[in-house]
Amino acid sequence: MTSEFHKIWPSHADHAARMKDEFDMYYGGECPMKIKEASWISLKQAASTVVPVFRKQFLCGKPVRSAALEVTCDGVYEAVLNGRRVGDFILAPGWTEYRKRLQVQTYDVKDLLTESNTLEITVANGWYRRTNAPWTGTQNPDEFLPAMLIAALHLVFEDGVEMTILTDASWEAAESSVTLSGIFIGEDVDMTRVPAFEPAVVCDFPKCALIPQEGPQVREQETVYPCASFRTPRGEWVIDFGQNLTGYMAFELDAHAGERLSVSTAEVLDRDGNFYTANYRSARSQLHYICREGHQAYKPRFTFFGFRYLRIDEAPVGFSADQIHAVVLHSEMRRTGWLTSSDPMLNQLFSNILWSQKGNYLDIPTDCPQRDERYGWTGDGQLFCRTATYQFDVRQFFRKWLADVRAAQHENGWVPEVVPSLTAYKPGGAAWSDAVTIIPWQLYQTYGDLSFLGDMYEAMTRWIAYIPTVSTTENLWTGCWTYGDWLALDAPEDYHPATIELSKRGYSNDDLICSAFYANSVDIVIRAGTLLGRDVSAYQALHERIAAAYKKLFGCRLNTQTEKVLTLHFNLSDNPQELAEALAAQIVACGTKLQTGLLGTSYLLHELCRYGYGELAWSLLLRKEYPGWLYPISKGATTMWEHWDGIKPDGTFWDDDMNSYNHYAYGSVGDWVFGVACGIQPAEPGFARARIAPLPDPRVGSLGAVLDTMHGRVRSFWKHTDAGIRYEIDTPVPAEIVIDGKSRCVPAGRYLFGQ
Ligand code: BGC
Repeated sequence: MTSEFHKIWPSHADHAARMKDEFDMYYGGECPMKIKEASWISLKQAASTVVPVFRKQFLCGKPVRSAALEVTCDGVYEAVLNGRRVGDFILAPGWTEYRKRLQVQTYDVKDLLTESNTLEITVANGWYRRTNAPWTGTQNPDEFLPAMLIAALHLVFEDGVEMTILTDASWEAAESSVTLSGIFIGEDVDMTRVPAFEPAVVCDFPKCALIPQEGPQVREQETVYPCASFRTPRGEWVIDFGQNLTGYMAFELDAHAGERLSVSTAEVLDRDGNFYTANYRSARSQLHYICREGHQAYKPRFTFFGFRYLRIDEAPVGFSADQIHAVVLHSEMRRTGWLTSSDPMLNQLFSNILWSQKGNYLDIPTDCPQRDERYGWTGDGQLFCRTATYQFDVRQFFRKWLADVRAAQHENGWVPEVVPSLTAYKPGGAAWSDAVTIIPWQLYQTYGDLSFLGDMYEAMTRWIAYIPTVSTTENLWTGCWTYGDWLALDAPEDYHPATIELSKRGYSNDDLICSAFYANSVDIVIRAGTLLGRDVSAYQALHERIAAAYKKLFGCRLNTQTEKVLTLHFNLSDNPQELAEALAAQIVACGTKLQTGLLGTSYLLHELCRYGYGELAWSLLLRKEYPGWLYPISKGATTMWEHWDGIKPDGTFWDDDMNSYNHYAYGSVGDWVFGVACGIQPAEPGFARARIAPLPDPRVGSLGAVLDTMHGRVRSFWKHTDAGIRYEIDTPVPAEIVIDGKSRCVPAGRYLFGQ
């Protein structure tokens, strides 16, 4: 059997050996599950694009006490037992650092069993075999793997007898009705096809990477119905869902065999109101469905889309918009935070931040859900993490992803730019790789759970130990690649960078950015190490040296807004008040506009408020013109945009190439709204004590936040009344309440200030 697999897939003997080595290094070769007794199986003729389905028929002659199905694959699968879907995990087994970690799901299938049973499991490419988009310039070697399944069904009968059905040569395999599938492609389905089953092939592929399910499952979360159906000026039939979302379309129709439904997706319409897909780049993002005879319902099973609009390219006669709806997908997470205000534009911003988290927390924290990317960009992940912890309980979500960060960390300590990593990945550099320190620290702050720090401490120390090995200056981080202050707006007109990538990074000094993040990561290691009882004296001395060298080299060269913001945020200035004043003056001098990119923008409002420039912070938030948070809303945004001017005032696009309309990085302002404008912060990790210091602004009538913390519900609400400002505060724990600069420590309770 083994040799038969290697005859068909010769290159994979090598791959398998490599994978096993990597795993042994990581886990010491342990594979803890029952599924380890099963064999990987594939379809013999797997050369076409058609997605295989595997089948096992078996009898169950006596009453069953329990039935557990363990399953995973090198792609994404859907299991069906006796015609009913097993579980509701969409896109199982999710996306992990596959060579070291491949999750196995266990389902209770007792209620699906009958006397004579058919178990069918379809395995599509998913992320495992189709993640490297053309723009990465590399090919995923796993692309040449066959679709493989491994499963074990363990039955215990009422009489105590046990039976285990394992994937092996007794299973059958066939080409399914899904003729083409891919995360970026979408799905082609031909319901007229009748699968021709033949014996499956056993594959000698390692089982060492198999681990039990760790993350929350991706599930269908909401249904959205069309709000409009119309013809564009070009004559296209377009359906509008009114909300940019991540998920898929689902439909029900009557048709004759061979009739087709073809659907394309888009996030926005162009200036003339026509369907626009160029920003998806090479992601085809379509569904092509060939009907069978009669009544039928379908939704794509192995892919997802980021869209607000659908274009019906072809449909059976009589098909109408009310036969199709959208299904929202994201990882299972409990909602914990709510914001509301008297200002409809702010409320739309809050909604956009929320929807961008929903749309990008699909098994991993992605940069965007629509174009040929959808990767776990570490920088975006850490910048948004604090906001994410206000909106949802993300403990399990990040516990799994951080395990992948550890698995993806290079042996010399660097952390990749995207996790799970791509095959030709590189270090993420400042602010991206620093996700390894920043995210666990944030999770500890929000949830008070030390295990986030314990789990990551070694990875953190390995990361900061790597920096001096590549830096060109002692005690600083210089001379290295960085994405800089990505997408900053402050490059002068005559600045002609050598590469396109440079042109997207603004004008902040790379060495300053790197060194500031280096100082911050060392600082987090000191704080985490102290909590964990480690000896951190060497890190303390290192931090002092970094701070001194930073002040000496950059202290008088703080030019851009972001340079000032980072210096303030990471406490690297001897005269922070003066520096904040200079920052405020600079912002006002350029027309009360932010010029910051991804990095500076996340901390800008926080730092302004910290040094007494709350009104200016509010002015930036409330700005309706480009650049600013409310400008996209004036252009109809329902999620956060990658560029403030993704759609320009004249209706043209920023660009086709890098123009996502569901990119949460600038949504990181959510943590300023919860934490400063509403003023809800943990005074002790996990909100064992709270600090509630709201910051009202006369331009906003009222604002309120509700937050479900580990210790109960905190509520902070303020409102302008004829008599002044009224504050309503609920705290389930002792809190420091700060109103108008006056602080008081109070026990748990409900408090009212003003009238
Ligand atoms: C992603 C970003 C990411 C960046 C790297 C982009 O293509 O969408 O959000 O952080 O690359 O700078």
